Amino acid sequence: MFGRDKEKTDVIETLPMVPLRDVVVFPHMMIPFVIGRASSIKALDYALVKGKRIFLSAQHDATKDNPSAEEIFSLGTICNIVQSLKLPDGNVKVLVEGLDRGRALEFKEEQGFLKVVVKLIPRQTEAASGVEALMAKVIALFEQYVKLSNNLHYDAMLAAVRVEDPGKLADTIASHLVLPVEEKQNLLEIVAPQERLTRISAMLEAELDKLQVDKRIQGRVKKQMERAQKEYYLNEKMKAIQKELGRKDDRLSEIDELRKKIEQARMSKEAEDKALQELKRLEAMPPMSAEATVSRNYLDWLIAVPWARKTRERKDLQAAEKILNDDHYGLEKVKERIVEFLAVRQLVNNPKGPILCFVGPPGVGKTSLAKSIARCTNRKFVRLSLGGVRDEAEVRGHRRTYIGAFPGQIIQMMKKAGTRNPVFLLDEVDKMSMDFRGDPSAALLEVLDPEQNHSFTDHYLDVEFDLSAVFFIATANVLHTIPQALHDRLEVIRLPGYTEPEKVEIAKRHLFPKQIQSHGLSPANVSFSEDALRETIRRYTREAGVRNLERELSSTLRKVARKVVLDGKAFRVEIEPGNLSEFLGIPRYRASRLEERNEIGMATGLAWTEVGGEILPIEVTLMPGKGALTLTGKLGDVMQESARAAMSFVRSRAEEYGIEPSFNRRVDIHIHVPEGAIPKDGPSAGITMATALISALSKLPVRRDVAMTGEITLRGKVLPIGGVKEKLLAAHRIGITTVILPRENEKDLADIPKNILESLTVELVEHIDEVLKIALVPRSAPQPEAVAPPDLGPVQEGMTH
Ligand SMILES: Nc1ncnc2c1ncn2[C@@H]1O[C@H](COP(=O)(O)OP(=O)(O)O)[C@@H](O)[C@H]1O
Ligand SMILES: [Mg+2]
Repeated sequence: MFGRDKEKTDVIETLPMVPLRDVVVFPHMMIPFVIGRASSIKALDYALVKGKRIFLSAQHDATKDNPSAEEIFSLGTICNIVQSLKLPDGNVKVLVEGLDRGRALEFKEEQGFLKVVVKLIPRQTEAASGVEALMAKVIALFEQYVKLSNNLHYDAMLAAVRVEDPGKLADTIASHLVLPVEEKQNLLEIVAPQERLTRISAMLEAELDKLQVDKRIQGRVKKQMERAQKEYYLNEKMKAIQKELGRKDDRLSEIDELRKKIEQARMSKEAEDKALQELKRLEAMPPMSAEATVSRNYLDWLIAVPWARKTRERKDLQAAEKILNDDHYGLEKVKERIVEFLAVRQLVNNPKGPILCFVGPPGVGKTSLAKSIARCTNRKFVRLSLGGVRDEAEVRGHRRTYIGAFPGQIIQMMKKAGTRNPVFLLDEVDKMSMDFRGDPSAALLEVLDPEQNHSFTDHYLDVEFDLSAVFFIATANVLHTIPQALHDRLEVIRLPGYTEPEKVEIAKRHLFPKQIQSHGLSPANVSFSEDALRETIRRYTREAGVRNLERELSSTLRKVARKVVLDGKAFRVEIEPGNLSEFLGIPRYRASRLEERNEIGMATGLAWTEVGGEILPIEVTLMPGKGALTLTGKLGDVMQESARAAMSFVRSRAEEYGIEPSFNRRVDIHIHVPEGAIPKDGPSAGITMATALISALSKLPVRRDVAMTGEITLRGKVLPIGGVKEKLLAAHRIGITTVILPRENEKDLADIPKNILESLTVELVEHIDEVLKIALVPRSAPQPEAVAPPDLGPVQEGMTH
């Protein structure tokens, strides 16, 4: 048995030894490890028998199974075996406690294990000056080290810092540092505690630096990982959203899909090249960039435009005629011309003919005829309202260089049609205006020109698109605001408006059934008597077409629908003149706008405006003055001129009409025309103004049942005017019995419905003298009986238009 010698004289003993792989045992340290080598187990067994002391020292090369003496560090630790446990696999687990440093002086191999002659290296306990400060520093560093490195236990740190002996402190800390074996061995070999501490302090500082850098890097790595994770999460989410939207979750398949669509779109060669080129660009872009969105949009447009799809055109003219008749009452001439037009289009295979244009007031069926034509010819129908279109770009698109650019209306509508041969209605071409941004009608002209429209270029699409298979139809309220170049391309079909009986029929056959259906009613719920229809037409509408009539029917049926919902499906009501006001309220118009009496200075003209024919009452008032002529009522230039012409004529013929020739020196003349009824055909109010003027000056009243229209020359000749049918319809509507027309308009009477001609006396005149003869009431003649307008009901007092 060898006791531990505290004396400073050399203590030498012979101990069994175990070479350690990768471990350096420091004094004061408890360490468990497993022993497996047969020689080591033998050494252990020997030690267990001989006082449990053993010498442990690291071998240079951990991989050597049987290191020779030279391959083992000679400086090691004399240890006490605290515990040993045989493991089932034959290995032995031991727990040892380091006691002191020792230097192996001699290695001997005996009985199959190593023994060493060890010289104990005594501990140095005397404290050098300054060692305490050094200890404090090392402790502080160690604390930091523990905090930064995550692989040391807090306990170990505490145990270490409680140590008061510098040597023990150095050893304890050294044993806890994570260092390569050589480094640890180096520490073990420094015998002087202060020196060891200094070394440890330096090592800790270096280690701390490293750890801090690590920590920073780790922080950065962590941030990066967080970002990566976030991106991953967002990407996954995006994929989920895209999947939800029915898109493929994969970039490649998006490109593939686009490519497939491009191939299937049967584009023109030019367009396909452009699309594939764009696809290549898109492929190179980050998928979520704004640029990619722009690119994708563009491709979507290219793909969506109908390059090749067509409906099969129906050429059966009889079927066409039938459809037109089914959809529209009356309009015989119009329908006839449409069928002719279709026939010509078929014969002239390359349809370079003119563009059909329906002209007429609102609600006469222009749009609805165009729809019927689409049905007749088995084409899709699209409608582009040009009202308010002022900008060429609206028609032709913006260049793609603009952010948020998109194609113009033509291409948008073609996409909507989905086929390249639709009926394309250019509604209200007369309402298109132009401003500094360019003339949209120029773009429209190109669209309509068969020489050009096979290669129509939208600024956005930027490739030619063939519009030649499109059946363009235009509509307008009036023709005179349409640019001449465009006008020249149109084949005009006029729809002047309907007579009252026509309106009744249209309402009965078309409007009412349509409205019943769109209100979800059945014919069993409601009936509308013919008298009630007539009453609605007369007292609730004043129009050439049937748009307001349709609106009134709709508001009637809304009330009926409400009742049906409240009272059940069995609800039924018959609408008669007697209960009409329950549905439509107080009538809006008097049955007639005829003057109550024959008036002096007041003549009834007929005007042709955008909303159809209108009556145009003209008032002339005289005041003492010096012959000034005042015109009020927002009159256009042409109308002012014709007022002056009328004035000059009257002066030249004053005597004949019993007017004092110098009247213009004593009176001021004021001519008033109600605003809003300005004729669109220019000077047609000429004879009306002359009549009112002469009536005022001669004090002869004008017959209230006479209406007139015609231009007047300075010599009193009456010149022809436009819109005869519209004007006659308007005159008829308000109960005029006699209409004065220029003789040259006689040919227009051929178009007038028979029933109108039967109820009106049409006087054809060439000179204003004839007009005055008919219109003025001679001084001797008694006032004629008030003429009742044709079959109109009573007018409630106090109701005015
Ligand atoms: N002759 C007609 N026969 C049947 N319905 C008609 C007739 N004329 C007009 N309509 C109907 O009147 C309504 C207004 O016609 P619409 O085509 O919109 O007029 P516009 O385009 O000339 O202003 C539509 O419901 C239309 O079907
Ligand atoms: Mg319309």
